[in-house]
Amino acid sequence: MFDTETYVNRRHQLRERVASGLILLPGNNESPMNYTGNTFEFRQDSSFLYYVGIDAPGFAMLIDCESGEEILYGDDFTVDDIVWMGPQEKVVDKARRSGISKTAPLHRISEKTEEALKSKRKIHFLPQYRHDNMMWLSKLTGIRSHMINKYSSRELILAIAAQRTFKTNGEIDQIEQALEISYEMNVLAMRMTRPGIYEREVSAAIEGLVLSKGSYPSFPIIFSIHGETLHNHGHDNLMKSGDIVVLDSGAESSLHYASDITRTFPVSGKFSGIQRDIYQIVLDSQLGAIDMMKPGRAYKEIHLHCSEIIARGMKDLGFLRGDVKELVAAGAHAIFFPHGLGHLLGLDVHDMENLGEDYIGYDESVRRSDQFGLAYLRFAKVLKPGLVITVEPGIYFIPELIHQWREEKKFDQFINYEKIWEMRHFGGIRIEDDVLITEQGHRVLGIPIPKSIEEVETHCA
Ligand code: GLY
Ligand code: MN
Ligand code: MN
Repeated sequence: MFDTETYVNRRHQLRERVASGLILLPGNNESPMNYTGNTFEFRQDSSFLYYVGIDAPGFAMLIDCESGEEILYGDDFTVDDIVWMGPQEKVVDKARRSGISKTAPLHRISEKTEEALKSKRKIHFLPQYRHDNMMWLSKLTGIRSHMINKYSSRELILAIAAQRTFKTNGEIDQIEQALEISYEMNVLAMRMTRPGIYEREVSAAIEGLVLSKGSYPSFPIIFSIHGETLHNHGHDNLMKSGDIVVLDSGAESSLHYASDITRTFPVSGKFSGIQRDIYQIVLDSQLGAIDMMKPGRAYKEIHLHCSEIIARGMKDLGFLRGDVKELVAAGAHAIFFPHGLGHLLGLDVHDMENLGEDYIGYDESVRRSDQFGLAYLRFAKVLKPGLVITVEPGIYFIPELIHQWREEKKFDQFINYEKIWEMRHFGGIRIEDDVLITEQGHRVLGIPIPKSIEEVETHCA
């Protein structure tokens, strides 16, 4: 945990922003795999971690905005439990480290929620992503469980987003701690990868590395010669000479802050001519985007600039034609780059995505586009100091997408389908780093991970 004062101050600010009613933050519970006692690795809810810091299942936090009363609800373990689980810290001791003076058994939370409902005080809660918590909130509030997220509190979402969006030095240290593990994961994968072994042999080794650090992956590892499938979680392909492989992976720090890094490298250790050409375009677009990052600049503008670098490069190689600005404005480049440039990073790898992406990445100054590609931009707003955001452009040859657009003759004034079709088995290339916005501009976080063609080939050799 951070020091007690950190959590006390965070809750104090939250209470002041929300101003009235009760704030109810449910923590996560154990999540069964195939029977109740056989659970997935426990992961605490990130907002609960941010405001309370207790990294254990079975808790809920209640904050009364008017009186300032704070109660941590949770149950102590009995000796029967301890026989199976070993010694356990008391709820009051956990609460003390978080600066909370009142605790109560979990079932007693209904006394407070019933009182609030009777006196028509608002109970603020966040959108929920776990069904057990939806059902629990349903029981407490009388709202039907499938309607719970419709009644989540906009005031609470905005108040939490306003705090969690801006990272303190302590939080940035945590992200850099996770990035140290990322460095090791990436160089291990580059060293291990060779023709004739399965993807799973490498993905298992880097997952083992993460676990050996006392950490856990911040999301399921993507390691695939089919990098054109953006979130490809299969690891069953045999790697061959001539393949390129995308590794998109991250670790969690001791306090569960995430890293999120992508590198693409040649299975044989050497890129082919066309792989080099396309890799260099992705790299130029990523460096060009990073170069633009500073307070006051909209991330959507940077996404579009990056898209133009990709489009210009692919035009020079003969895959696209026409005016680069025009074709990017129309969205034709999305045949190669069908996703957004990046997202906030913090306690979640897609930070606060569960609060609602449009609250996090958009506001009244910028609305989400419905254009294919641009619509997937998760963060479009103006950059401010303290944001940590990923920069992750890519170029992909997605056979199904190429086929469909070619049949529709979509953007055929801009797209050379004949040339692209010949290349439909190319795969994909993505390069991703995590960047802090500073007062002056930006800082790429973590130890530099091999990225230029020369560096990557040296590490793969
Ligand atoms: N790891 C998923 C992403 O890069 O957004
Ligand atoms: Mn990633
Ligand atoms: Mn990412």
